[in-house]
Amino acid sequence: MNFDESISRNETNCVKYDERISKFGVNDILPLWVADMDFATSPAIIEAMKNRIEHPVFGYSFYATAYFDAIQNWYWTKHDLRISNEQIVPVNNIASAVAVAIEIFSDTGDGVLIQTPLYPPFREAIIRHERVVVESKLVLKDGKYEIDWEDFKLKAREAKIFLFCSPHNPTGRVWRREEIELMSEICKENGVLIVSDEIHSDLTHDKYKHIQIASLNNKNIITLNSPAKRFNIPSIINAYAIIKDDNLREQFINGVAKYSPHTPSPLMQYITIAAYEDSSKWISDVDKYLANNLKYILDEIKKTPQIKAIMPEASFLLWLDCRGLNMNSDNLAHLFIHKLKLGLNNGIDFGNNGDGFMRLNYAVPRSILVEAVDRLKFISKGASCH
Ligand SMILES: Cc1ncc(COP(=O)(O)O)c(C=O)c1O
Repeated sequence: MNFDESISRNETNCVKYDERISKFGVNDILPLWVADMDFATSPAIIEAMKNRIEHPVFGYSFYATAYFDAIQNWYWTKHDLRISNEQIVPVNNIASAVAVAIEIFSDTGDGVLIQTPLYPPFREAIIRHERVVVESKLVLKDGKYEIDWEDFKLKAREAKIFLFCSPHNPTGRVWRREEIELMSEICKENGVLIVSDEIHSDLTHDKYKHIQIASLNNKNIITLNSPAKRFNIPSIINAYAIIKDDNLREQFINGVAKYSPHTPSPLMQYITIAAYEDSSKWISDVDKYLANNLKYILDEIKKTPQIKAIMPEASFLLWLDCRGLNMNSDNLAHLFIHKLKLGLNNGIDFGNNGDGFMRLNYAVPRSILVEAVDRLKFISKGASCH
């Protein structure tokens, strides 16, 4: 596939381009924010949708066994995790599953643990459910985010649920086996339910292996995933939970029925099967393209000493340490939006320890990245926010 091709997404009701005004107040910026790719999805997925659309009736549908088989097989071949079809629970999306888990496995005022900086909707969900945000701050050491274990142990005591992000957005961190094991042990000791959002787990970079927390000896785990990020189909796919423990699963299924009843779209199962079974060529092509984009942008960013890129181990988001610019988050936003004309996510939205950082989405045609790099050069030429 030709990922160099720039497909106009303007006027497709697309958040990344068509909501520039509401997000940034201006339209004339390169949007490198919301976490989707500017690329066409796998041809097998398009083909599967076309085939289904040929049949013009879109009445109520259910998932056939082949849908669950595709997920089960994917987990076995890609993640060495044996699951049964019964252990897969379809949900509307990750956000709704997180909401259900908070609602049914904690009470008002209970603590919910997160590791910041973090994908903002987790914190928002905790607050919306009137739970208490218990924050364990990740520590940036020699360019890599690490867990402060003493802090994590203390915070786990205050929490009912740990909303885990694995791999981690925005830092791009893929958690190592020892880390996963220790987090699981600490949560187990403290009776903390782990809700593990693994939506970026199918996008690990070359030498990094995603470890399934569900593979450990801990019954208190809900894993959430969907083909959304891997196959760039976030607006047309449902998500699913994997829950091995029968009792926990039954409670969760009841919670979904009560708070977020799920309606399968008739296209869903065909999309999932085509994604997991017939898209390997697209995956290897897009991964090569993304790896080259990453190499390019990392090399270029080195030329701007005020900005340091945190090396991502998964996904297509680059977390940029811009503290060398000595600007508060408002001034940083002003610089990026009005001087550089670049639309990135402001780090402060990911928590206080995201202050001074920006998140850049590099899943774009190379020509857009080249243009973005060109605009970033303005910084090394002595840009100011005024
Ligand atoms: C960590 C993480 N979880 C969940 C989502 C969104 O998932 P959904 O649309 O299924 O709620 C995203 C999207 O950026 C994400 O980065």
